[in-house]
Amino acid sequence: MTPKQEKLTALLKSGCVIPVLTIERLADAVPLARALVAGGVRVLEVTLRTLVALPAAKAIMADVPEAVVGIGTILNEDDLARAEDIGAQFGISPGATPDLLRAAAASALPCAPGIATASELMLALAHGFGPVKFFPAEQSGGIKALRALAGPFPDMRFCPTGGIGEANAATWLAEPNVIAVGGSWLCPAADIRSGNWSGITAMCERTMKSLKPA
Ligand code: 3PG
Repeated sequence: MTPKQEKLTALLKSGCVIPVLTIERLADAVPLARALVAGGVRVLEVTLRTLVALPAAKAIMADVPEAVVGIGTILNEDDLARAEDIGAQFGISPGATPDLLRAAAASALPCAPGIATASELMLALAHGFGPVKFFPAEQSGGIKALRALAGPFPDMRFCPTGGIGEANAATWLAEPNVIAVGGSWLCPAADIRSGNWSGITAMCERTMKSLKPA
């Protein structure tokens, strides 16, 4: 493993459950991150899905030092450069285009491209990536699909996202090739909109508890 891959692996493992954040209002960024951290969820993926995503990520980095901030929904080289510029700790993409893989391989930012098929995984491997995001996890065949990929790719480690929630996070994490799971269930849009920070903390706490063996 390269140092970049080692860093990414360590970050994902330490996060274990990684909220996929869509932040619409800049003012929500810091209280949202504090609510997640208070619930034991520290490694955060701020997605580039809104206009305030980058300032939101910067605000979290400045005001919530316990949080480890990565940038998600990286679709192209520009997104990658913007994530690197603001000092993100890691990058995540839903896909694995040849252009993005080339740019991410040359960048200092540890990145997890997204794959849903063996061919996409082979492309990511050829560019030196791993761990990767398995996306959309439930919709692409769920745990059965992931187990099938473990046959030809026994050393690959995955962070599945898409359709994961409080009820199945532990089941996914029990798979030997899964090092973290991600998703939006930890930070529902309605809770962010209404400022239900205690609800978000409670969801994080319940999820973290569900991961502990009884
Ligand atoms: C992602 O980018 O990983 C997904 O949007 C998360 O999917 P979810 O909303 O089903 O958790």
